[in-house]
Amino acid sequence: MTSRVRGVIARGKGEPVEVTTVLVPDPGPGEALVAVQACGVCHTDLHYREGGIGDDYPYLLGHEAAGVVEAVGDGVTSVTPGDFVILNWRAVCGECRACRRGRPWYCFATHNAQQKMTLEDGTVLSPALGIGAFVDKTLVAAGQCTKVDPAVPPEVAGLLGCGVMAGLGAAINTAPVTRGDSVAVIGCGGVGDAAILGARLAGARTIIGVDIDPRKLELAQQFGATHVINSRETDPVERIQELTGGNGADVVIEAIGRPETYLQAFYGRDLAGTVVLVGVPTPDMRLEAPLLDFFGRGGALKSSWYGDCLPERDFPMLTDLYLLDKFVSEIIALDQVEAAFAKMERGEVLRSVVKL
Ligand SMILES: NC(=O)c1ccc[n+]([C@@H]2O[C@H](COP(=O)([O-])OP(=O)(O)OC[C@H]3O[C@@H](n4cnc5c(N)ncnc54)[C@H](O)[C@@H]3O)[C@@H](O)[C@H]2O)c1
Ligand SMILES: [Zn+2]
Ligand SMILES: [Zn+2]
Repeated sequence: MTSRVRGVIARGKGEPVEVTTVLVPDPGPGEALVAVQACGVCHTDLHYREGGIGDDYPYLLGHEAAGVVEAVGDGVTSVTPGDFVILNWRAVCGECRACRRGRPWYCFATHNAQQKMTLEDGTVLSPALGIGAFVDKTLVAAGQCTKVDPAVPPEVAGLLGCGVMAGLGAAINTAPVTRGDSVAVIGCGGVGDAAILGARLAGARTIIGVDIDPRKLELAQQFGATHVINSRETDPVERIQELTGGNGADVVIEAIGRPETYLQAFYGRDLAGTVVLVGVPTPDMRLEAPLLDFFGRGGALKSSWYGDCLPERDFPMLTDLYLLDKFVSEIIALDQVEAAFAKMERGEVLRSVVKL
């Protein structure tokens, strides 16, 4: 039976989005119907609304989501109704050219998994990134559902479905950052801060956050930036060089998607260093720079799609990290250490943690 639910659509370029009735059919073979519980607002949704991604209006926006599987179609064995899942926009099909060549993180198969959800007048909706999750229920390919621990709140888990995975993965998988590296991240929004966190998890020693908004620089420090640069006030390339012994950073991650910030990343890295472009440019953007610099500076210029993630491997690993707070049995004050020893000997705690 078709479900009639509320959803957020973009009807045309630059037009404000609207909440309207969306018709969602029952899952067909290989598909799953998911009751969405939370969905992050990613900058890519804004790109869709502004015509920066394509012209296939109307779009059903939202793609950074977690929810509960409500029904599955024939042949689906990977998830069952009741499972708590993160929706991913790169299910690994196992059959396309990329999968067969052993590079499943480039799987091409599911970008347009399904176009079956419609408006009441029958107009077919284009789901953002093959998901469309600003909606009470959405229809996806079953492979787009990655089962994770339901102890993680949906508003946190959903973020792994796009921005946080994209940023973390750009640092950990694409670059990849290794222990002792110096890393600069240009643009400290949701994606950039996740890249900072990823750099920290990977053991980077110097992590430089660059933004034009002081509030974002403050957040960048909370996520692990050891230094920050307000690029409205300070030349970021010169300052990155100063902070890295005059060399430039081993890895610079661009998380905005603009030519001028890409060039900051390009010139802010060490000779033979790595640039990772995570920000998504619009079709009109052009890059102008001496070709000789591309040759002379060497190194690797990469783009990162979805953090080169493998959802089945990376989502559960990252939700488990979130659940590290389970190790914290209690928060105690400095004068309670002796009492904590007693609890430790009695086996009552995993960890008492002193908060100063
Ligand atoms: N590659 C992928 O798989 C992938 C996935 C998700 C998002 N994205 C893209 O990543 C980019 C960032 O997304 P987000 O959700 O973090 O956006 P956001 O709007 O939260 O963050 C952008 C940040 O860039 C800063 N900024 C803007 N102009 C700047 C400039 N000239 N110099 C320095 N800082 C500047 C802003 O202050 C903000 O903090 C977008 O382009 C988005 O489409 C890519
Ligand atoms: Zn594939
Ligand atoms: Zn996104």
